Amino acid sequence: MGNCGTREESTAVVAHSQAQQQHMFPLHGKNTPSDRKCNRSISDLSDPSTPRIIEDSRNISLYTNLIAFTLFELETITKSFRSDYVLGEGGFGTVYKGYIDENVRVGLKSLPVAVKVLNKDGHQGHREWLTEVNFLGQLRHPNLVKLIGYCCEDDHRLLVYEFMFRGSLENHLFRKTAAPLSWATRMMIALGAAKGLAFLHNAERPVIYRDFKTSNILLDSDYTAKLSDFGLAKVGPQGDETHVSTRVMGTYGYAAPEYVMTGHLTARSDVYSFGVVLLELLTGRKAVDKTRPSKEQSLVDWVRPKLSDKRKLLQIIDPRLESQYSIRAAQKACSLAYYCLSQNPKARPLMSDVVETLEPLQGSGPSERFPPPSAAHRRLPGSNAGCRPTPGVKYPPGAAAAVPPRRVR
Ligand SMILES: Nc1ncnc2c1ncn2[C@@H]1O[C@H](COP(=O)(O)OP(=O)(O)OP(=O)(O)O)[C@@H](O)[C@H]1O
Ligand SMILES: [Mg+2]
Repeated sequence: MGNCGTREESTAVVAHSQAQQQHMFPLHGKNTPSDRKCNRSISDLSDPSTPRIIEDSRNISLYTNLIAFTLFELETITKSFRSDYVLGEGGFGTVYKGYIDENVRVGLKSLPVAVKVLNKDGHQGHREWLTEVNFLGQLRHPNLVKLIGYCCEDDHRLLVYEFMFRGSLENHLFRKTAAPLSWATRMMIALGAAKGLAFLHNAERPVIYRDFKTSNILLDSDYTAKLSDFGLAKVGPQGDETHVSTRVMGTYGYAAPEYVMTGHLTARSDVYSFGVVLLELLTGRKAVDKTRPSKEQSLVDWVRPKLSDKRKLLQIIDPRLESQYSIRAAQKACSLAYYCLSQNPKARPLMSDVVETLEPLQGSGPSERFPPPSAAHRRLPGSNAGCRPTPGVKYPPGAAAAVPPRRVR
């Protein structure tokens, strides 16, 4: 972390990405001045703006809302990290289910938890662990997963989160055995995740999440969406800065093209990733799917021309949704995705605008029934009608002109 990929390295990543599935892609290089600036030291703690960044794990105890667990306590609640307690596995390590209560430590509230254990042989390490503790130790919002505590003993690094009953959005959308999510649930998840990102972007010191994807959106028992995994999060540009220069990190298929090419990170990079996830919700297809015909492997490349054509637009909607949505709601959601995916970052909406656009789509049932594709063709003439600016969204001046509906590649 904290290294800046050169333009050549970034280009190499793009080329390499064509041969890869969705994985985090770190590049190697040296720390940039901006990177160092963003990792604020303990001496900055007098600054009242958030989030404060602590570089030394001994000072984490300053986050009084976090519990410092011992390794023994976490071994106890996961039955020594037994395989039947495994919830999943990611780049950081394995995630186990556990339960904390008075038996673990006097005074602990009874709570199911998820315990994430750093894989010492993996690509992530103390830095990602500390970034997660730094951000989630301070940021609290109904659409961010709650960090309950941590463990830092010898070279062991663990994180303890609130247990998210329904696991990841990725599993619900793409696991063959999972029942398809309804239109209403998908719109609710999109709104919840958008609110989480908007909260980060609107913080006193804005935070760029940098790894927005379906596997990092966790679902509570009532399908409330919460963002997890802040290991790649960055404090956004400050003062006169227009961007943060950083080593390119993220996940193929989700990272904004200008960020991959230049390493220049802005909140608009998250908006692009949001557009990709919205497309996944709308189509039921993965951002990158190597099992599909070559033209359809990149969801954005396959869908973008269709988003600018009202007649084709309805063909991309997940067929499993059948007639659960209105044409108008589908058009609005597709139009929103189109603008989030603008090549020009300035043409993308703010996350607060995205929230405003999604709000009226809640409960957007089939009052206006989805006609079969042939009928849709007859009733909706006009090739460019699909991506008019969505009412309610405050697009930057010239946004529509900057990305005309036909100039989509
Ligand atoms: N708080 C939680 N509650 C319930 N399940 C969780 C929780 N956190 C993680 N999981 C489960 O563990 C799995 C792995 O999560 P993790 O964040 O480590 O990896 P990932 O998101 O799949 O990949 P990446 O390393 O790219 O982020 C998730 O998909 C989810 O099923
Ligand atoms: Mg994750």
